Amino acid sequence: VSTAAILVAAGSGERLGAGVPKALVALGGQPMVVRAAAAFVAATTIQQIVVVAPPDCVDRLARDLGEGIAVVAGGPSRQQSVSAGLDALSGDVRVVAVHDGARPLVTPQLIDRTVAALVPPWDAVAPALAVVDTIKRVDSRGTVLRTVDRNGLWAVQTPQVSSRATLERVHARVASGVGAATDDLSLVERAGGRVLLIEGDPVNFKITHPEDLAMAQRLVAGQ
Ligand code: C5P
Repeated sequence: VSTAAILVAAGSGERLGAGVPKALVALGGQPMVVRAAAAFVAATTIQQIVVVAPPDCVDRLARDLGEGIAVVAGGPSRQQSVSAGLDALSGDVRVVAVHDGARPLVTPQLIDRTVAALVPPWDAVAPALAVVDTIKRVDSRGTVLRTVDRNGLWAVQTPQVSSRATLERVHARVASGVGAATDDLSLVERAGGRVLLIEGDPVNFKITHPEDLAMAQRLVAGQ
């Protein structure tokens, strides 16, 4: 019985504008997803790692990641990429941590803390940070429609941890037509699962825009 990590890194990274898939963008001299994978290698709770890559980067990343880390091709949506990762897990895996390859500064401590928090009665656990800014709903031109009460609002990170059985069940529902989602917890929630958020880590931010990459590069340089 073991715990696996699926690192989804098959997105194009259009908002980053780097000209190469986001997973391959260099951070401290190595592709972003290679740095993320290193944290999972160092985590004591993880026994298997599958990286889901853009189809034309599978060979290159398999070389960079080295032996012991499986690399498979992703799909057109994040959910399809997670499903491709699920299909690649070995038979003894019972718990799965799904992580965005675009969060390369995740720490082994955060990974281990999140995996350890998956205990009854919870069906899924993820790290998150309480929203600190005032949140407003706006229209497409930026006109403010209203201010949302930020009390009780949390911004959710990854890794998102659940049992393999739960994750496979909720992904099968999606495959059979239940709508898309931007993370795996949403799928568990929709299926009626009990989901817990634990305290996240500010350095585990998602690299989306060029400013995020610049910030990550400064943090890595200062380490
Ligand atoms: O687009 P977003 O920032 O929500 O993507 C989150 C993560 O999902 C990224 O690490 C990205 O590489 C991954 N992804 C994927 N396959 C897709 C789309 C996104 O693996 N088709």
